[in-house]
Amino acid sequence: MKHLLKLGDLSREEIYGILNLADQLKYERKNNIRHPLLAGKKLGMIFTKSSTRTRVSFEVGMYELGGYALFLSGRDIQLGRGEPIKDTVRVLSRYLDGIMIRTFAQQDVEDLAKYGSIPIINGLTDYCHPCQVLADLMTIREYKGSLAGLKLCFVGDGNNMANSLIVGCLKVGMQVSIACPDDYRPDAGVLAWAKEQGGLTVTSDLKAAAADADVLYTDVWASMGQEAEKEAREKVFRGFCIDGALMKLAKPDAMVLHCLPAHRGEEIADEVFEAHAGDIFDEAENRLHAQKAVLVKLLK
Ligand code: CP
Ligand code: NVA
Repeated sequence: MKHLLKLGDLSREEIYGILNLADQLKYERKNNIRHPLLAGKKLGMIFTKSSTRTRVSFEVGMYELGGYALFLSGRDIQLGRGEPIKDTVRVLSRYLDGIMIRTFAQQDVEDLAKYGSIPIINGLTDYCHPCQVLADLMTIREYKGSLAGLKLCFVGDGNNMANSLIVGCLKVGMQVSIACPDDYRPDAGVLAWAKEQGGLTVTSDLKAAAADADVLYTDVWASMGQEAEKEAREKVFRGFCIDGALMKLAKPDAMVLHCLPAHRGEEIADEVFEAHAGDIFDEAENRLHAQKAVLVKLLK
């Protein structure tokens, strides 16, 4: 494993390797066992979109591993004024030991890996969000003991989260159902790949999708970059919501996860969010542990 560009590039064994290391790092942190595995290493973090969890967890993660993280706002570096990705990364490769990037086009992340000579980590693109799904799988395994055979139902837009959940969950042997409006299905390439694997259903029938789910998952109706579509999306997605009625269709011990930030009253009802706040904030915490594991695997 040289980069983390998308989960499709990882084998089942590599995913479990990250999850196992993440569990170990979490245990050590809880027991005040220091682990400066990346002493002296430097991570550049390029953001051309907003972030709370990804930024803070990567920065704190590098600190706890003994390394250093630099926040590089897309607005402030020359990339924002048109310096090509392939030049930027050839320069940054001379200074840094790795780059984490959050941006729009997946191609930009792939180009960093192609033209640079250091590990590249995808911190979210329009196409996928692999770091989030590694933390999600870690959280599900913590609560359920194992992953294979569990059913995850994703409610809402067939967006970056849906794409990564499909790939990550199928790779570890889970079943996935996606409940989305017909015109908002996940990426066609992801769906074609999933068809070969088996284990995925995509439907606009929310109730069928949620039946007997072990995990209910949702995300915002309008992602970063889709602000202009917000009102139109509110109409299309109305009803694609995890509420008390939908919870009754899932397994009685079903977990509820949300990558956050959440819009209560849209994709999730406030009472469901608060009843499952334990699941959701454990999931958010696990971003730190899962990403530290990725950093150690790639930068050590
Ligand atoms: N879930 C997630 O990636 O959160 P941020 O946008 O705050 O980084
Ligand atoms: N789909 C959301 C996820 C945020 C973590 C977005 O891209 O804005």
